[in-house]
Order: sequence, then C-alpha cells, then structure tokens
Amino acid sequence: MVNKCLFPVAGYGTRFLPATKSMPKEMLPVVNKPLVQYGVEEAIEAGMQDISFITGRGKRAIADHFDISYELEHQIQGTGKEDYLASIRNVLDQGCFSFTRQREMKGLGHAILTGENMIGDNPFGVILSDDLCINQSGDGIMSQMVKLYEQFRCSIVAIMEVPEDQVHKYGVIKGDAMKDGLYRIDSMVEKPKQEDAPSNLAIIGRYILTPDIFNILKDTQPGKNGEIQITDALLKQAERGLVLGYKFQGKRFDCGSVDGFVEATNFCYENIYNAK
Ligand code: UTP
Repeated sequence: MVNKCLFPVAGYGTRFLPATKSMPKEMLPVVNKPLVQYGVEEAIEAGMQDISFITGRGKRAIADHFDISYELEHQIQGTGKEDYLASIRNVLDQGCFSFTRQREMKGLGHAILTGENMIGDNPFGVILSDDLCINQSGDGIMSQMVKLYEQFRCSIVAIMEVPEDQVHKYGVIKGDAMKDGLYRIDSMVEKPKQEDAPSNLAIIGRYILTPDIFNILKDTQPGKNGEIQITDALLKQAERGLVLGYKFQGKRFDCGSVDGFVEATNFCYENIYNAK
C-alpha cells in the first residue's frame, strides 16, 4: 500500500541560527529525541518502512543518526545505559533508509521532485519533520491519512485552522466539506495576504501524494519567492481530479519557529517524557 515516505530535510533552518550553522535543524532535540526521529517514527507507525531523505550540504548527521554507531553500541553493551538507545534501535530495525541530495534549494516542490527516482510509480507520504505532530489519543497523523488514502486513492494534505493573521505563513485551501473534517479542494494559495486568503484552513507538513505529481512538478514554474511550490502542483492535480484536505486529530507544533519549538519541548517533557 503506501509504504514509502519522503523527508525533505534540505532547508537551511535560518530561523534557528546560530544553532543550525553546522547542525541540521532536523537534529535539534525536542527533550531527548531529534525532531526528525519523531517524524520517522510516525511514518513507520503508518506502515511506511521505506524512508527516503532529501538532504543537502551539512546534513550528514541525519544519515549517521539512522545508522549503527558501533563504538557506542560496544561501549554501553550490557550496561544499564542500553535502554537509552532503545527507541533508535527500534527505528533502525524497522526502517530502510535512503538519501539523495537536493543540490540547489529551489523550494519544497523541487525537493519532492528530487525524490522521484527513490519513489518510482508509487503513492507516497511526505513528512516535514519541523512540523511535529502528536496524537496521544489514537493513530498518528500519517496513519489517519493512510486510512483515508485506502478509501479515496488520491492525494491528501493535512490541514488545520489557523488564526486569520497567520495565514500568510502557509499554503491555504478552499474546498467543499465532503464530511466532517474532510474537504474536496478546489483552490489553494501559497502564503496569501490575509485579505486574499480563501479560508483559514492551512496546509501543514503532512501529505500523501500520488506519483503523477512528479510530471506536474516538472511543468510547474517557480512561484512565490521564486521557488517551485508543491501547492501550485497540487492545485493542478485538484483541477484534473480529486485532492483532499484532511483536518487531522491531534496536535501540531511549528518547530521551524523558536516559539513552536519551545512549546513542543514543554508539551513533550510533561506529557511524554515525564509520563513514562
Ligand atoms: P522551510 O522554509 O520551513 O524550512 O521549508 P527552512 O528553509 O529550513 O527554514 P528557514 O525558513 O530557513 O528557517 C519547509 C521544509 O521543506 C524543506 C525544509 O527542509 C523544511 O523541512 N525544504 C524546503 C527542502 O528540503 N528544500 C527546499 O528547497 C525548501
């Protein structure tokens, strides 16, 4: 079914400078786990064992994280510290990891297109790990989306309501509600001004895409900020067929911003780390 997931992690993370000068943003820890590991665990929980990263220069720490550290394993073998490695060992046992580089930062749409060879002619998930998504009362966000994919077999984007003065930070959709929390998208705008936004339903960093998106992306011209926008390609896909917006169950933290990152850290410390 949907067993592949793409992780675009090539961005510069400028909002976290100087921390991200020589360290990938995705390796920043929320309590004791790097952001990207939360995303990978969400993908694996959804049945996506085939994990592909779109990386860039200076991102080697991500590849090292999803590999065995023999020296460390040897050092702590048989000691009480083995438990500290349990979560990443679990991920390594279940996932298969591939990496390719986006050589120029030409936008999220371009990053996704860079993954075409790794994905092939298959539906696939996309997780932006700087959006940390947690659902403590049931399935993870990607699992919820896979269930919908199995029903509708079309591209699906995760959406949430945001305050109207925040819409300029997001791709924003307009659509007809098919049922509670599920919209058939007919319009989409990347980072609109508040007065131009078609709604306050913002796209967050979880997608399931059908592989025809690659040919659409090849024909997509640079849009907002001179970048190839996945929103523009999704709008073309919506004009040709069905694209759904799904209001997911759970919480989302914008860990690409310092405020969201601190909020996520406090939440995870109190509700996950301390609740063990
Ligand atoms: P962002 O614009 O939020 O990430 O892109 P950024 O560029 O790292 O952050 P700032 O604005 O400089 O602080 C959203 C996601 O898309 C990926 C980023 O890594 C991030 O996960 N991305 C974006 C790419 O992989 N390639 C691109 O060309 C653009």
